[in-house]
Amino acid sequence: MATALRPTLVRATRRAAVTRPSAFINSISLTSQPFSTSAHAAQANEGTTPPSSSESHPPLRLSKEQREMLEEMIRVDQAGELGANWIYRGQYAVLGSDKKVGPLLQHMWDQEKHHLKVFDGIVSQYRVRPTALRPIWEMAGFALGAGTALMGKEAAMACTEAVETVIGGHYNDQLRELLKIDHPDIAELRKVVKQFRDEELEHLETAIEHDAQKAPQHELLSNAIKQGCKAAIWISSKV
Ligand SMILES: [Fe+2]
Ligand SMILES: [Fe+2]
Repeated sequence: MATALRPTLVRATRRAAVTRPSAFINSISLTSQPFSTSAHAAQANEGTTPPSSSESHPPLRLSKEQREMLEEMIRVDQAGELGANWIYRGQYAVLGSDKKVGPLLQHMWDQEKHHLKVFDGIVSQYRVRPTALRPIWEMAGFALGAGTALMGKEAAMACTEAVETVIGGHYNDQLRELLKIDHPDIAELRKVVKQFRDEELEHLETAIEHDAQKAPQHELLSNAIKQGCKAAIWISSKV
């Protein structure tokens, strides 16, 4: 089931819209400091370990369009990971004590906490303007997570299935765009996106293995959540 899903997902992501640049970004500072999936980004966020000079790369020269694209990518990824954290927070608030589902939710939530920490580090390191809608994504995420969990375990898993289908596809779109830029810093960002894409797909597989598709009104619920996620991605790339 899990392996069979991947080609479908890849095809779906090819159809998904890539976010368009806004006029903002001239202030973005994508310069020479490298980052990585865990240590550097998280530590940069905590201000504990600046990258050593031996790790510095030449200044990153980007076109205006590339800088706009990167800023939108980083902003939307941070917002998405924030929303994911609050979805799991909401689900855990309702189903955390369930012996079967509770540990699964905790595991996925822990990974989302790590994703958010890394993107918080990247946002601050590269001076990207974060989304102005943080409180909205927190409330919306919690409401979606808790609301679906209140509908039952299957609906909670259907929520994860729908969200991770969109997010996995979104990260795939970004990987294709990042492949067009040849620079060590971008190679590091690609590694982050690739690792997180793989973990989102694991969440998707976990949800399907735990009866997501047995949720009442599965198609309806799934489509509504997917449309909401796509709208949230578009909005948070701009605002
Ligand atoms: Fe995530
Ligand atoms: Fe996830």
